[in-house]
Amino acid sequence: MKTETTIQGLTASLAPARSTKKMIGFVPTMGNLHEGHLTLVRAAKKICDVVVVSIFVNPIQFGVGEDFDSYPRTLEQDSRLLADVGCDIIFAPSVEQMYGKHPRLTNIRVNQITEDLCGQSRPGHFDGVAVVVTKLFNIVQPDYAFFGEKDYQQLAVIRQLVQDLNMPLEVIGVPIVRAEDGLALSSRNGYLSEQQRAVAPTIYQSLKQAEQQLHEGQALSEVLANVSAQLTHAGFIVDYVEARQTNLQPIERFDQDLVLFIAAKLGATRLIDNLQIHFKT
Ligand code: PAF
Repeated sequence: MKTETTIQGLTASLAPARSTKKMIGFVPTMGNLHEGHLTLVRAAKKICDVVVVSIFVNPIQFGVGEDFDSYPRTLEQDSRLLADVGCDIIFAPSVEQMYGKHPRLTNIRVNQITEDLCGQSRPGHFDGVAVVVTKLFNIVQPDYAFFGEKDYQQLAVIRQLVQDLNMPLEVIGVPIVRAEDGLALSSRNGYLSEQQRAVAPTIYQSLKQAEQQLHEGQALSEVLANVSAQLTHAGFIVDYVEARQTNLQPIERFDQDLVLFIAAKLGATRLIDNLQIHFKT
């Protein structure tokens, strides 16, 4: 496994694969890897000849007062984990390498689907994601890119971006990986105190309970209110509890498949999760 820190180095490392038309898989990450990321790499290994994982804490997707400075940077540990799952190349550029010395004058905004859910409380976040992902796609030029469904809205934004701008790659969504107690794996779980970690699975429990209530025919508005109340009671500050169609559009009929979304804070740590709910037709 190679580690490249420059665009030039990465391009040179990928040249043999490109000239022999090997399938290149790409897993963009911000590092501090856990089983969720490793599952993305394993999915990439299944269908690609060469797998590139980027590790880059992207400053422009963090808002003022968010955790850019404290975001865990654990390259050595990440490298060991990636070697074990057969990653071929790590791309770990500096901020300067990615954004250069010149001011960036281009922004990328995916409209509409970025405006609510996490877009409401994190203004500019998805623009920052769209810019960095576009840059990384241009640098790596993968055939396939893999993203976790935990960041469901991010995945929808990236799919839209790729479709709208005719990017020549396929985006693959990979199901959420959970701890045994149901908590969705996230690098931010590491911020939780022992006590908060014990409370955090309430998010998944409330999603599963909501699923059951919806299947029993309870009204969606009531079910969402129950989730919110359960989280507040457990000590969360709820950012949103929402339901959308699988394409993030508002719910139109109550028998159609939907996704429940939660964002809630435990202390200073903001956690997100979602659950896809299917109704038999
Ligand atoms: O999901 C993430 O880790 C980041 O948002 C991504 C896609 C690597 C862009 O910085």
